[in-house]
Amino acid sequence: MKTLHTDCLVIGSGLAGSAYALHAAKAGLVIDLLSLEGPLVANSDWAQGGIIYDTTPDPGQLTRDIFDASDGTSNPAAVEQLVREGPGAVKELLLDELGVAFDRDAAGGLELTREGGHSSRRIIHSKDLTGHTILSAVAARIDTTPNIARRTGWVAVDLLTLSHNTDNIADHYAPLTCFGAYVLDTASGEVFALVAKKTVLATGGLGQIFLHSTNQPGSVGHGVAMAYRVGARLIDLEYVQFHPTVFFKKNAPRFLVTEALRGEGGVIVNARGARFMDALHPRGSLAPRDVVARAIHQELAATGEPCAFLDLSAMKPDFIRHRFPTVVARCAEHGVDVTREPIPIVPAAHFSCGGVHTDLTGRTTVRHLNAVGETACTGLHGANRLASTSLLECLVSAKFTARADIAEIGGSGLAPRPPDAAPTGERSDFHLPAPRPWIGPAHDADPTLIRQDLQLLQSTMWNYAGIVRSPKRLTRARRILLELREEIQSFYRGCRVTRELVELRNAVQTALLVVHAASLNPRSKGCHSVVEEM
Ligand code: SIN
Repeated sequence: MKTLHTDCLVIGSGLAGSAYALHAAKAGLVIDLLSLEGPLVANSDWAQGGIIYDTTPDPGQLTRDIFDASDGTSNPAAVEQLVREGPGAVKELLLDELGVAFDRDAAGGLELTREGGHSSRRIIHSKDLTGHTILSAVAARIDTTPNIARRTGWVAVDLLTLSHNTDNIADHYAPLTCFGAYVLDTASGEVFALVAKKTVLATGGLGQIFLHSTNQPGSVGHGVAMAYRVGARLIDLEYVQFHPTVFFKKNAPRFLVTEALRGEGGVIVNARGARFMDALHPRGSLAPRDVVARAIHQELAATGEPCAFLDLSAMKPDFIRHRFPTVVARCAEHGVDVTREPIPIVPAAHFSCGGVHTDLTGRTTVRHLNAVGETACTGLHGANRLASTSLLECLVSAKFTARADIAEIGGSGLAPRPPDAAPTGERSDFHLPAPRPWIGPAHDADPTLIRQDLQLLQSTMWNYAGIVRSPKRLTRARRILLELREEIQSFYRGCRVTRELVELRNAVQTALLVVHAASLNPRSKGCHSVVEEM
């Protein structure tokens, strides 16, 4: 088994992982940045709406909006950090350093939009492809930063810890400490050890454990599952946010229809054209996401209709075409002209408010293991996330985590070095032992079994652990998933490791963790809704 060394191993190259890499690299640290596919294949790339940029002298109203959206459950310290540090993080990296092309008004100022749960216009955007515009700029900068090695097609299989992966008995009894990961190079099929002083989980969300999701394929909570296996604390996993407006058409893919459309006047209606949100929340169609998603779910259950609609008739066609080109084009691909007809929509799994527990500098409960962005949970979102906080959270958590790591590793002054070279500047508190070799069987897994298992898992989660849960449904989900996990484990132990197998193994573990968290929490709050009997 080949062993490589780096300062920081970043698992996932969405906005959080990439921003972390840029910050750490600037201080001279050597970074290995893993991504399954190309640099833009990340949930951040698909974020349409925008990013909060609230520079008002008194951002108290933003604090209140985050709390209100979370149903009063957000961690005050995490909210305070985001509100205080957010504008600086956006200005420093996106506006000043990368010059990201956000939309401007006639006077040249940043154009502000609004989304559900927001009491004012405070979201900057780049038409309806904000995530793509931001991530493209960040990725381009990464590609010209010498001490970041982009490892495309590499998948983390398991974290390395002193307790689990060395032959030294003293290590076994040391405090839980991470020192890198076993990684699979999908091109060669080779597994090797990537030993790191700091390992950063930036694997994004877990939406793909549900049948319908806005997430990229493969978003099955890799970081959550890997962290669980080494004993890290996980928190709030029952709070899975369902986005209310996701395109619906039989035999067509689900895709996000940005909430910014509602910020600009779009209204949710039922099949008869009736505005049912107005009676349910003072903000009507602009209520927080959990409220809107549940209302649509209930409306569909009551009427038997397959979908609700987003009525854009309050907006001029030219404005829609200019401001929302992605939604216009994607809907047109499936025969819907959004300038003339309402968009058929349903809710779908969108964002994990819970995750790997961290403090406000990305520290998990395992030494030298960090988590950032959606993978992490500081409690910022509590039981339900306010729209357009996710990209901002990526920037803030990346900055503070990198800053803490730089201080710990002793970043400044370390010379860039080739990614495969021996570690530089090693200090005694970074004990980087030789990991046990990876031993893997040589049989190929049957792809049909993998596909079938994933489908069963996704439909189980959708039907029994989705928008509305009940103890009975959760018990059934747990039973099915436990059996499935047994199957998948023996499958995993007997077959050559592949991307698909890693995904399936992590998916079933994440699904069980979500179901377990949901079963332990009988109280409906935010996006966790439990009814007694169904
Ligand atoms: C959207 O544009 O509706 C999604 C943005 C977000 O999740 O905050």
